Amino acid sequence: MPHSPESLAQTGSCTVTLHFEDGEQRRIRVEPAEFVLDAALRQGVPLVHQCRSGSCSTCVAQLIAGNVEMAGRATSLLSAEAAQGKRLLCSSFARADSEVGLHYPAALIYGAEPRILPAAVAALEWPSPTVARLSLELPEHYDFNFHSGQYVRVKIPGAAEWRSYSMASTRRELPRMDFLVRILNGGLVSEYLRSGCRPGDEIMIQGPMGAFVLHSGRALQIFIAGGTGLAPILSMLDEIRYRPGPRPPMLLVFGCASEQQFFYRDELELRQWWMPELRVSLCADRVDNPDSGLLQGTPIAVLEQERITDPESIAYLCGPPAMIEAARRRLHEMGIAPDHIYAEQFVASAIEKAASSI
Ligand SMILES: Cc1cc2nc3c(=O)[nH]c(=O)nc-3n(C[C@H](O)[C@H](O)[C@H](O)COP(=O)(O)OP(=O)(O)OC[C@H]3O[C@@H](n4cnc5c(N)ncnc54)[C@H](O)[C@@H]3O)c2cc1C
Ligand code: FES
Repeated sequence: MPHSPESLAQTGSCTVTLHFEDGEQRRIRVEPAEFVLDAALRQGVPLVHQCRSGSCSTCVAQLIAGNVEMAGRATSLLSAEAAQGKRLLCSSFARADSEVGLHYPAALIYGAEPRILPAAVAALEWPSPTVARLSLELPEHYDFNFHSGQYVRVKIPGAAEWRSYSMASTRRELPRMDFLVRILNGGLVSEYLRSGCRPGDEIMIQGPMGAFVLHSGRALQIFIAGGTGLAPILSMLDEIRYRPGPRPPMLLVFGCASEQQFFYRDELELRQWWMPELRVSLCADRVDNPDSGLLQGTPIAVLEQERITDPESIAYLCGPPAMIEAARRRLHEMGIAPDHIYAEQFVASAIEKAASSI
């Protein structure tokens, strides 16, 4: 039976020391019936999170010492990851004074306070019938910056609700920002893009947000993207392209549902041309034309055929939750350490809404 905060309640609060990737530390007090993430937010430590329900893995941390115990509810963590000390802070209690490591620098959450500002629609293009490329332009004298892989929340004209979208461009292109949006029938933003969006429309953005960012390493960098999950991956690849010095070897596996829905093939070929260190595998669940150059199957099926032998490889995954879970499982079997696997899930707006109303 799942435990509730109350059923696990103990007497006395515990101290949890949070170790950030850049060596910064913060100490928080966690009450017995309180989740560690809730305690951090209450004490003004804006740890990165999304769903607050154990389903997106955004709040994952590594237990270094002490006792941080996951509540019994379903989580996106593999049991092998939990056995190696991974904990989802949105769903964990502190059972003793403890130390946990976070996979992002403190500068990410303290450096650039999320801000709300207006942006104007600069262009709307259609790389495929189900994917829109939206370009927004920030106003003159904008005060905004971000890391490749992060996202912003977006509010379209006349709407009361926010939606999240990852930047497909890098900060070097600011004040322009590009997004790749999958069009869903009946969706709020989807229908606006399909029929209401006009150049010059004012769209509010809030951000930057998220901890899905590049990590340093000379080993193989593996990027796995499904559909518009390509957006943050593209931004990361371009960031690596702009960086001075030698680049690591890179593998991108990118898949779409069908050949007809495939997009950005030219964009990826260009990046391969610019970066010989980058190898790209393109696939689609359904391929009708054998000469299309697309492999048939999911990104995970394609990954199966890869010989990845370096356990120091770093993996970045973005796309639907099922793809991410399968990729993490496969990479784990290939010997990649859980703390070398970073993921961003495009959780449904309904889950986001529930989380932001908590
Ligand atoms: C961190 C993060 C980053 C993201 N980045 C991207 C990105 O880069 N690109 C991208 O494409 N997506 C991204 N997403 C997903 C995105 O935020 C939206 O969830 C998605 O675009 C759908 O928004 P929408 O307004 O078009 O549809 P919604 O209005 O949210 O509707 C979604 C679907 O549900 C249906 N629906 C809505 N309400 C109901 C209801 N009451 N009953 C039954 N069905 C209903 C709609 O018809 C539609 O098919 C991201 C999500 C997160 C959390
Ligand atoms: S799993 Fe903790 S915020 Fe989503």
